[in-house]
Amino acid sequence: TSVPSLASSDGHGFLQCLREKIPNELVYTQSSSNFIDVLVSSIKNPKFFINATVRPPLCIVTPRDASHVQAAVVCGRRQGVRLRVRSGGHDYEGLSYRSVWPSEVFAVVDLGANLRAVRVDRLKSTAWVDSGATIGELYYAIAKNDSRVAFPAGECPTVGVGGHFSGGGIGMMTRKHGLAVDKIVDATLVNADGDLLDGAGMGEDLFWAIRGGGGGSFGIVLSWKVQLLRVPPTVTVVNIGRTVDQGAVDILTRWQHVAPSLPSDLTIRVIVKQGQQALFQALYLGSCGALVATMDEQFPELGMTSADCQPMTWLQSAATPFLSFASNGTLEEVLLDRTAWTSAFTKAKSDYVRRAIPRAVWKDIFSRWFPMDGSGQIILEPHGGFMDSVSAAATPYPHRNGVLYVVQYIAYWDQQGDCGAAAKSWIDTLYDFMGQNVSKNPRRAYVNFRDLDIGQNDDDGTFESGKVWGERYFVGNYRRLASVKAAVDPTNYFRNEQSIPPLIETM
Ligand code: FDA
Repeated sequence: TSVPSLASSDGHGFLQCLREKIPNELVYTQSSSNFIDVLVSSIKNPKFFINATVRPPLCIVTPRDASHVQAAVVCGRRQGVRLRVRSGGHDYEGLSYRSVWPSEVFAVVDLGANLRAVRVDRLKSTAWVDSGATIGELYYAIAKNDSRVAFPAGECPTVGVGGHFSGGGIGMMTRKHGLAVDKIVDATLVNADGDLLDGAGMGEDLFWAIRGGGGGSFGIVLSWKVQLLRVPPTVTVVNIGRTVDQGAVDILTRWQHVAPSLPSDLTIRVIVKQGQQALFQALYLGSCGALVATMDEQFPELGMTSADCQPMTWLQSAATPFLSFASNGTLEEVLLDRTAWTSAFTKAKSDYVRRAIPRAVWKDIFSRWFPMDGSGQIILEPHGGFMDSVSAAATPYPHRNGVLYVVQYIAYWDQQGDCGAAAKSWIDTLYDFMGQNVSKNPRRAYVNFRDLDIGQNDDDGTFESGKVWGERYFVGNYRRLASVKAAVDPTNYFRNEQSIPPLIETM
């Protein structure tokens, strides 16, 4: 597979081409007075808006409809300019608005500015959601007038639908209903030829690939049709912290066995953090009384009582501070504020666990890793339930039957001080240490917790060279993704540092 030389453009022809096809006010060039404001508007990892680390795009296109997206693709291909597509801007490595290749001339297509409608069909229990909407906007639109309607996606309301759905979408209802991609029934996409396709027009393989194969590889997904779900009008939320002195090591060791096999109405995730603490956060799709009975029987070690129950609607649970990291505010403020939760500088990595990690290892983690300078958090999200019933090849997300939980390591720092040296050392050494305790051969990772350390395409990324990271994210599905890529974008127009390379089979 050879990548066509798209690096030589100076961009003038591209801007001219755009001017002929897209209203001027939707294109921000580097000389526009608000160019930087638009560029940083949805950057969630501030380390990528320090001037030295981000080479700005040629321009930012903020399409209002499909024809503007099609025009950007057609002009880009004709004039030798790559496109980075941004929906919510949460990519941990900033791939939606930056390129690590110094010679790459690229523009950003920012769907979050103007393409974020949610159209709900209550009779059919479906909704069309534009990629530029956030999951908070989706949740609000579907459930504001009906507390029995919900959708299973992530926990932070500012996350963009476009990137999130492209990579899977894990949340507090994954054990009951699966990932966001498990409930997508149609989509619209602009492909590398600039054609606008729906799910039927895409064909089975491409429709399969965009539901979990990672963003930025197959085209620009404009909108998604999702199946809405029924939940009880009142759900129960629980938030219990336990320190090491209160038995956190034993409770966590036990949690690994219990959480993936609980009734699927109950999800308990854990945040391990500074202060020798494990925070157990639960969402139960039912009443407090039934939850207490289940916990007494199956997880008495946590010591939960009815005093821990917080009854609320599902929509409130999606906006509740402990689940969303959001600050206090009204439902609307928390779910609809796209600028909320500007994070510290972060670096994330992930693992999957199929065999419970021994108690001694957890003891070590608490005693050795959390007193360290630069220590961050480890977030554990249980699988099991619905996830066990889906085959690894049903969608590109392969981490299904038998997975106990997904691990996310996050390091945080601010601009002052040591520029993150301690935090980066903490996450790197912890990740090395964990290698022997997690799924391996290959060691697994979640594409939505993007991590360029596990490997990246070079300028001429091939199927073989991409295996090093591709098989960690997609295991056996990597090959099918690369075959789909070869069929729909053989010249590799849509590419980034971890996009799927085309697998061109030679006879
Ligand atoms: P962004 O716009 O940065 O895009 C991410 C990638 O997808 C880029 O490669 C981009 O080019 C591509 N892309 C974006 N839109 C596209 C489109 N329309 N068509 C094709 N490609 C597109 N995950 C999870 O599963 N559960 C969770 O609870 C959370 N919570 C969470 C909280 C916070 C604060 C962060 C920073 C991240 C998460 N995530 C998460 C991870 C999140 O799912 C992941 O970062 C998504 O890719 C973010 O999607 P955005 O649209 O916001 O990102």
